Amino acid sequence: MKEQLEAIQKEAISAFESCLDTKELDNLRVKFLGKKGLLTGILKQMGKLSAEERPVIGQLANTVRSKIETALSDKQKKLAESMLEAKMKAETIDITLPGKKNKLGSLHPLSIVENEIKEIFLGMGFEIADGPEVEYDYYNFEALNLPPDHPARDTQDTFYITDNILLRTQTSSVQVHVMENKKPPIRVIAPGCVYRSDAVDATHSPLFHQIEGLVVDKGITMADLKGTLEQLMQRLYGEECKIRLRPHHFPFTEPSAEVDVMCFNCHGKGCRICKGEGYIELLGAGMVHPKVLEGCGIDSSVYSGFAFGLGLERVVMRRYNIDDLRLLFENDYRFLEQF
Ligand code: PHE
Repeated sequence: MKEQLEAIQKEAISAFESCLDTKELDNLRVKFLGKKGLLTGILKQMGKLSAEERPVIGQLANTVRSKIETALSDKQKKLAESMLEAKMKAETIDITLPGKKNKLGSLHPLSIVENEIKEIFLGMGFEIADGPEVEYDYYNFEALNLPPDHPARDTQDTFYITDNILLRTQTSSVQVHVMENKKPPIRVIAPGCVYRSDAVDATHSPLFHQIEGLVVDKGITMADLKGTLEQLMQRLYGEECKIRLRPHHFPFTEPSAEVDVMCFNCHGKGCRICKGEGYIELLGAGMVHPKVLEGCGIDSSVYSGFAFGLGLERVVMRRYNIDDLRLLFENDYRFLEQF
C-alpha cells in the first residue's frame, strides 16, 4: 500500500506539471483527490491493514494528500499567472504606430461670407433677426402689399404646404415680423433660406439664401440706403468699389431700385463676366412702402424706412469667382476643401 501511495503521489505531481490549461487541471484534481478518486480508493482499503500498519499508512496517506494539494494549488497559481500574461501580451498597444488623423472640417463658403456680412452690419449697429421658413401667405405676400392675384406673385412661385402656408420666397417676410414686434428705431438684418419652385441650373436653385436689411426711424431717406449699401460693398470688395442704383419695382418698396455693384473683374470697363456692363446686379432695395408700415402699426407720417434683399449666393460667387451655383450645394469634398 505504501508503494501504491507513493506511485499516486508521483503520478499526480508529474501530471500537474505537464498540464497546460485550467480545465484539464480540474479533471486531474477529480482524478486524484475526488470522492471517487485514486487516493480515496486506496484509503477505502485501510480496513484490511493490521493494527500496527494502519497508523503508519494513515500518516503517509495524509502527507501524500497534502503534497498533492500543494502541487495542485501551485499549478493553479502558475496557470492563472501565465494566462494573465498571455492576455496582456495580446492586448498591448503599439505606441510606435502612427496615429489616425481626424479630418478637420471648415466653414462652407456661404457661411464664411454670411458671417462676414453679419460682422459688417453689427459694426454699424444693426441687430440680427430671424423668422420662420415655413410661413403664412400673409407674411410672405399680403402684408408686403402683394394681395392674392397680384401679378408679381408669379415671379416667386413656391412650394405650398396648404393654400395658406408656404415655404417663404423671400426674407422680406421677416420685415413684417420685426415691425409687428418692435417699434422704431429699427435696424436689423435677417439672413436665411428662401425657396422658389425653380428648376436647377448654373444660376438657379429651388433653395437659396438672402440677407434682408431693414431700417425704420424718423427721417430715413434714400441717401441712408445708398450710404449703407456702399459701406457694405466697399467692405466686401474693396475701397474703390462703386454701386449703382437703377429704378425698379417691388410692391413693398416705393421708390424701388435694383442695386448693381462694379464688376470685380474689369472694375467698370466691361468684360465677359459682367457681359460688357461693367456692373453686376446684386440686390433689390427701396424705401419701405407706407402701406407696409401702416399694416404693421407704424405711423408712416412720422416714420420712414429703407429695406434691401441681398442674394447671398451671388455675393459668394462673385467673391470666389465661382461660375456655377450648383457647386455650392453639391457638397463635393474637392470643392469645399478650398475654403
Ligand atoms: N425680396 C426681394 C426679392 O426677393 C428683394 C427686396 C428686398 C427688394 C427688400 C426690396 C426690398 O427679390
